[in-house]
Amino acid sequence: MGLIAHALERVKPSPTMAITSKARELKAAGFDVIGLGAGEPDFDTPDNIKQAAIDAIKRGETKYTAVDGIPELKRAIANKFERENRLAYKPSEITVGSGGKQVLYNALVATLNPGDEVIVPSPYWVSYPDIVLLAGATPVIVETKLEDGFKLNPKNLAAAITPRTRWLIFNSPSNPTGAAYTPDEIKALTDVLLKHEQVWVLSDDIYEHLVYDGFTFATPAEVEPKLKGRTLTMNGVSKAYSMTGWRIGYGAGPEPLIKAIATLQSQSTSNPCSISQWAAVEALDGPQNFLKDWVESFQGRRDLVVSMLNQAKGIDCPTPEGAFYVYPSCAGLIGKATPKGKTIGNDEDVATALLEEEGVAVVHGAAFGLSPFFRISYATGLATLEEACRRIQRFCANLS
Ligand SMILES: Cc1ncc(COP(=O)(O)O)c(C=O)c1O
Repeated sequence: MGLIAHALERVKPSPTMAITSKARELKAAGFDVIGLGAGEPDFDTPDNIKQAAIDAIKRGETKYTAVDGIPELKRAIANKFERENRLAYKPSEITVGSGGKQVLYNALVATLNPGDEVIVPSPYWVSYPDIVLLAGATPVIVETKLEDGFKLNPKNLAAAITPRTRWLIFNSPSNPTGAAYTPDEIKALTDVLLKHEQVWVLSDDIYEHLVYDGFTFATPAEVEPKLKGRTLTMNGVSKAYSMTGWRIGYGAGPEPLIKAIATLQSQSTSNPCSISQWAAVEALDGPQNFLKDWVESFQGRRDLVVSMLNQAKGIDCPTPEGAFYVYPSCAGLIGKATPKGKTIGNDEDVATALLEEEGVAVVHGAAFGLSPFFRISYATGLATLEEACRRIQRFCANLS
């Protein structure tokens, strides 16, 4: 009998991390590689947040804390929901984990049984289907289309629901497409869900603050209060405060769910890092004005990348509303050959050839469940992005 559990046979390691480490290896070996695979902002964590962590260490906040978060952080999270989302949650309805990923993992493992189904619109963040599989349930993938702005439409949602559906995973703005839903678009989906009491909503709002052109963010529990009793609203400090390494995420929802998550967490990681929790209090309670500059900077990068990619032969790049990703179609490259004689059969071939021939690391769409596309993360400086897009344009022009 093999050592590794059957559950792991169904799960793949994160392909985005794989491409990032391949690009890093090539770079370390002396190749001129531009990595556009990473899912994290390039900005430094703001100084006031770092200082709050230093102060916490000096005060001796270095011991175990309550499993699912210190009261001060739960209060800051409750205030954040009230202030930014007009949602009222009690501390007992809030859980804090080591990253949004742990909150999501805990919520799914705490609620799913074999045979249960979870609706995951594609393209999806790579971890959703694999966590569902780890929890022993079945991901039901519902494809979206570029023509629909990569947004789930209510008809397709209704068609995917069965008596076994337990969750809809909803992610706006989205990784990997950057698509963000308007309140009306959310309402059209929540109207469908109101008719199916067995379905809960897991709303992954981690890119909430990264929206452009004056777009107004909304979340399902806010748009349809009747669904609040079966919604877990998940968020975190990773993306908005450039704190990916600190590992703090949180979720808010009905007490029995929050309690179950705490039980699971108490037998796995226990509390998230005490120091990071104090830093997160400062992130949420402290000044938010730096965000405006970050958003402006991201919007400029997005505009540059979209415009340059649309000048590349065979690429069609829509303009996303948020996050720091674009998800262009590379349908126009399929069937062509590179100068080295390699035929491009799919989007993975595009990503491999781009890395090998032009030193640009992107992630192929198949990893996110929708081909033929690729994802570019534009969380890097303008000059680097310009050079990367120039290389992509050259790569496309040289195909025959
Ligand atoms: C859509 C989405 N949700 C959740 C996360 C998890 O973030 P973290 O665990 O750092 O809070 C990520 C990170 O890449 C993401 O892209």
